Amino acid sequence: MGSDFPAKPKSTILSHSTSNMVVTKLFLRPHSLPLSTLPSIILLPKIPSLPKKLTILSLCNFTTTTQPQISDPNLFFYGPSLHKGTNPTIPQSQLPITAFTKPSHRQQLQEENEEEEEEENLINAESFSRVFDIAALRVPAKDCFALESRLRGHLLNWPRIRNIARVAGDEVEEELAELLANPSREADDENALVSLNRRMYGKSEGDGELLSPVLYREKLAKTFDSRGYVKFRNLAKMSRPNQRKKRRDEEDEGSEGGEGKKRLGKGEFSVLEVVDDEEEEGEDLKGLLGDEFEGRKKWRGSTRLLLLDERCANGSVEDLPEAIKVVMKENTGKSMCPTLELVRCKLTLFYDYWQMNEILEALLPEGMIIPSAFETVGHIAHLNLRDEHLPYKKLIAKVVLDKHKPKIQTVVNKIDAIDNDYRTMQLEVLSGNHSLVTTVVENGLRFQVDLAKVYWNSRLATERQRLLNSFTRNDVVCDVFSGVGPIAMSAARIVKRVYANDLNPHAIEYLERNSVLNKLERKIKVFNMDGRRFINAMFASDKAKSITHVVMNLPNDAAEYLDAFRGILVDRSMDEEFTLPKIHVYGFSKAQDPEFDFHQRIRIALSEVAVDVEMRRVRLVAPGKWMLCASFILPKSVAFAKPTLNM
Ligand SMILES: C[S@@+](CC[C@H](N)C(=O)[O-])C[C@H]1O[C@@H](n2cnc3c(N)ncnc32)[C@H](O)[C@@H]1O
Repeated sequence: MGSDFPAKPKSTILSHSTSNMVVTKLFLRPHSLPLSTLPSIILLPKIPSLPKKLTILSLCNFTTTTQPQISDPNLFFYGPSLHKGTNPTIPQSQLPITAFTKPSHRQQLQEENEEEEEEENLINAESFSRVFDIAALRVPAKDCFALESRLRGHLLNWPRIRNIARVAGDEVEEELAELLANPSREADDENALVSLNRRMYGKSEGDGELLSPVLYREKLAKTFDSRGYVKFRNLAKMSRPNQRKKRRDEEDEGSEGGEGKKRLGKGEFSVLEVVDDEEEEGEDLKGLLGDEFEGRKKWRGSTRLLLLDERCANGSVEDLPEAIKVVMKENTGKSMCPTLELVRCKLTLFYDYWQMNEILEALLPEGMIIPSAFETVGHIAHLNLRDEHLPYKKLIAKVVLDKHKPKIQTVVNKIDAIDNDYRTMQLEVLSGNHSLVTTVVENGLRFQVDLAKVYWNSRLATERQRLLNSFTRNDVVCDVFSGVGPIAMSAARIVKRVYANDLNPHAIEYLERNSVLNKLERKIKVFNMDGRRFINAMFASDKAKSITHVVMNLPNDAAEYLDAFRGILVDRSMDEEFTLPKIHVYGFSKAQDPEFDFHQRIRIALSEVAVDVEMRRVRLVAPGKWMLCASFILPKSVAFAKPTLNM
């Protein structure tokens, strides 16, 4: 729980005013190391402080080949964790302001409050920010990918964090880089500057051509070194971002809380900051690259940061893995002005970075099972919380919502077991918008459903598909308990005709709407009556001869509706040409032998033994409770029997 969170040393608090850093969004990519593979026991590594500055210069003299000093490999918990790093915004004494550490707040949580504002404040996202000290190798952009593969085993291998980072100011033209790296041209450049200046104002002794301000700046940029640029401030404009874009960015920041947004990472999940403490005299490149350039004092053209394995952050340069040292040494050997540099970075991971289970683990009492699964129906996440979770239901729902937006817009919990004729669920909206009307796509069809009024179960999609596979274009299907039509509608795309029925008028309303939505209304005829009456009406009509399949998906009771088939053809002549329909009836069984049990129920309802019954287990709906499907041809003796039904 909250008390497990590491204390945040004051000295590591970052502030924009005191440290010189460049903030950038990291590139994201799916990561190969799933969090589930991380050990569950969290042991904090000892994190020695970083050397003040690691630079290539300190590497020039090394000869040692020592491996990185990892204090105790068994104690090293690899990867990002809420139990590691430091919180940048809140001193430990006040951490966390969230619901989970202050008992009074926790009690507050138990009181249900529908206010949206309170829902927003349920979780203090700031308390989930964690800053990690890491080291990075600044490399020329053009060499970046080659070096990435060369150093692969030594790079930061954290989930969802790409180990190549870009920071502001690293996109610089190669040509300028070359000029800057060549100070010997200084004298010539001085003369060129004077000459250009003259030409700019029409004082040239040369061809007299006047240069536009833009051309003039371009010319200067190609001609002078960094000191030269400082004298001509307007050159800085060359590297300034488009003013409109800049204004837009500023507005965005302003509306989200400006600086606060940067720190809190709203809408972002990670930020990398290069920490650069030391001022190097005479190397100010702001004049050239604009005020936005806060990065390196030594500028060598476009660069990238290769984030190094977290173990590299803590040791000295000599402790770096041999492969990194070799790369740096090679680079030092090539030039007096090496282009590889080791820099200190701070990687901040925000609330948005952490996964649902990590957040919930931190929020819920120790030992409590973390709710990890939920069903989705369109934009609705449907939880099935245990009793122990109920005091935290709003908190859990908020995390589910935060972590699955925008796909999920509403989080609900099932209040009671399904216990009504229409098989609708009693749902409590816990988070998000309160609309339970949603659209589900199944089998390429769109279904509008109102979960408050009709039945829908996405888990039956596979079973529905299996059933559909047995239908052909010559079939005529009767769906006795059709709901909003997942079977009826999909069948309508395959078969000749579908007759769909449901007792729930809302289900019928949606079924009609959905058949129009999917342009299937001409293939489906809809009925709103009790299942027994429907069976009776169908087989008493002239449609009887054409019906080839009857689907009965009301697992609690459908078997008991089979008696409706007794004598349905009694008024017809036995000699008439009749293809008896295949019945697909669903049922639940908690018996030791579910197949036998379900078979018995069918036999009792038919008052006859059905032969050649194909019996399948559909799914385990609860411990020891199976949903089954029995398919069989309606026995002739049942269809022509004397009816036992009083309609
Ligand atoms: C388990 S749902 C199945 C719906 C649909 N087949 C599906 O897969 O989504 C059962 C449906 O039977 C309907 N129902 C319940 N009792 C009924 C009855 N006596 N006659 C007709 N329909 C009934 C309910 O309204 C509900 O829509």
